[in-house]
Amino acid sequence: RFMTSSVQPVRVAVTGAAGQIGYALLPRIAAGEMLGPNQPVILHLLERDDPKALAALEGVVMELQDCAFPLLRGVVATSDINKAFDSVDYALLVGAKPRGPGMERADVLKDNAAIFKVQGRALNESAKKSVKVCVVGNPANTNAMIAAANAPNIPATNFTSMMRLDHDRAMAQIALKLGASSVADVEKLVVWGNHSATQYPDLSNAVIKGKSVAKNVDQEWVRNTFIPTVQQRGAAIIKARGVSSAASAANAAIAHVRDWVLGTNGRIVSMGIPSDGNPYGVKEGLLFGFPVTCQNGQYKIVEGLQWDEFGKGAIERTIKELQEEKDAVKHLL
Ligand code: NAD
Ligand code: LMR
Repeated sequence: RFMTSSVQPVRVAVTGAAGQIGYALLPRIAAGEMLGPNQPVILHLLERDDPKALAALEGVVMELQDCAFPLLRGVVATSDINKAFDSVDYALLVGAKPRGPGMERADVLKDNAAIFKVQGRALNESAKKSVKVCVVGNPANTNAMIAAANAPNIPATNFTSMMRLDHDRAMAQIALKLGASSVADVEKLVVWGNHSATQYPDLSNAVIKGKSVAKNVDQEWVRNTFIPTVQQRGAAIIKARGVSSAASAANAAIAHVRDWVLGTNGRIVSMGIPSDGNPYGVKEGLLFGFPVTCQNGQYKIVEGLQWDEFGKGAIERTIKELQEEKDAVKHLL
């Protein structure tokens, strides 16, 4: 607990740091859950230039101090975006408006898209060129595409969006249905496409301890229960809580970055990444949920998975929606 690491600290930016996801995320990053138990961190916390948001941020900083995390080597708390992104190695772009009951995630596109243009530019100016970016703020895929387009000096492949919450939700539903002893036994699941109601949670290749999931569930359950439950889970949580998911979203962000940086040991996870040059023929220029494995800090698309006719239709729908979102923000690209 009190051992000090001699490893150099890395800088992690989190935007919207005083929001509800920020509150669930920051202690876990500072505890080493994202980058490992030997990696010290300096947190760079960005909030809006608004007295209430900045007062709340001050409270978050006090609580981080009070946790006495051995790996936490400094906190920069600011509303100055260039200070927030100065020399950062990682950026979790969370700060954005959440949707409310009855809304789709694309309904916040108009309000949120501009944020990601500004943040893409600021990352370009201030962050390390190797910065790894995970976009959480909705609509996450299109926001990540906007940020990448505004950061010409950072490789576009460094901009990813979070599909991991959808992935983990789908794993949990399968484990519950088939009584798996652990969710971790579910493998080879993919959530393709957009982090939205058109996403395609695809269990056709999934296995539990080597046994096909598809062969042990009926198609009626897959199409009428499993897929809609995963697609609509965010809305179900908003309906139940009055506000959107936070603990599970923070958990997914930790898992996304941890796996990207520390590797997946051959396991498949879903990440939103640029569609350029993918083996599945998804139109280039979209930010799309794909199956990947990660090793040595790099993600790699898993090739060779097949879609049946139903799957092809689902993929077409999610591509169409992403294209429409892209068209709606073309002035920011
Ligand atoms: P929240 O309203 O509790 O917090 C957002 C915070 O961001 C606020 O403190 C706000 O002041 C700040 N903020 C807004 N604009 C900012 C800007 N330009 N720069 C810096 N800070 C800014 O919201 P939340 O529940 O934490 O959710 C944040 C976002 O994450 C929402 O868009 C939500 O829809 C999204 N989300 C995505 C996923 C996913 O799976 N991709 C999951 C859950 C939530
Ligand atoms: C989620 O999936 O929980 C988040 O994207 C929040 C939302 O708006 O559904």
